[in-house]
Amino acid sequence: MQEELEDYLLAHIDPEPEMLKRLNRDTHLFHLRPRMCSGHLQGRILKMLTSMIRPRRVLELGTFTGYSALCFAEGMPDDAELHTIEVDDELEEFIAERFSSSPYATRLHLHIGDALQIIPTLGDGWDLVFIDANKRHYTEYYEMILPRVNHGGFILADNTLWDGKVLDPEANHDAQTRGILDFNGHVAHDQRVERVILPLRDGLTVIRKK
Ligand SMILES: C[S@@+](CC[C@H](N)C(=O)[O-])C[C@H]1O[C@@H](n2cnc3c(N)ncnc32)[C@H](O)[C@@H]1O
Repeated sequence: MQEELEDYLLAHIDPEPEMLKRLNRDTHLFHLRPRMCSGHLQGRILKMLTSMIRPRRVLELGTFTGYSALCFAEGMPDDAELHTIEVDDELEEFIAERFSSSPYATRLHLHIGDALQIIPTLGDGWDLVFIDANKRHYTEYYEMILPRVNHGGFILADNTLWDGKVLDPEANHDAQTRGILDFNGHVAHDQRVERVILPLRDGLTVIRKK
């Protein structure tokens, strides 16, 4: 997005809460690949979508430093719960500190490990799932999750335009691009769901289970 346009957008949407500003800054200071953090615009969209859906049970695959998890928690009803899975155990302390010092500590449950192994241990009945972990496994995550999502529930998948690489699959044969292309094709033809891709940031697919 053009820098000027982004500045205009950010000046006219809800401000980024202080706690998230600090988290974003710390992510840039202390972690590699800070761009993975959802950030102001996407964070406000995730919070808004969550307020619209009013989920009781939310699942996130790929916590990173906890930014998106805190946005979901902000939009969730008081008695709702969010489970978030992160494979990198070096992030555990950083995330746990931010979660416990947030106003949503009791709603947040962090699981350290591989999403594909942890998902089956967390039960069913999800109202909202955010797929944002390993791009190579998006289709596997989706197939594992969909039967566990309530009818009328939603799955959001991040990075589904993958920096525009989806337009040139021949030139980009890396495993992550292949994973995203496979996922997009799979979801596009799935009769069990409705779907739309929002061309936001790196692409956000919104999927509703019929
Ligand atoms: C794009 S970042 C997540 C960003 C975060 N959701 C946000 O919006 O602020 C992806 C994260 O997924 C994690 N990840 C990758 N493979 C995973 C797996 N198999 N299970 C759980 N987490 C995984 C990575 O370590 C990384 O922290």
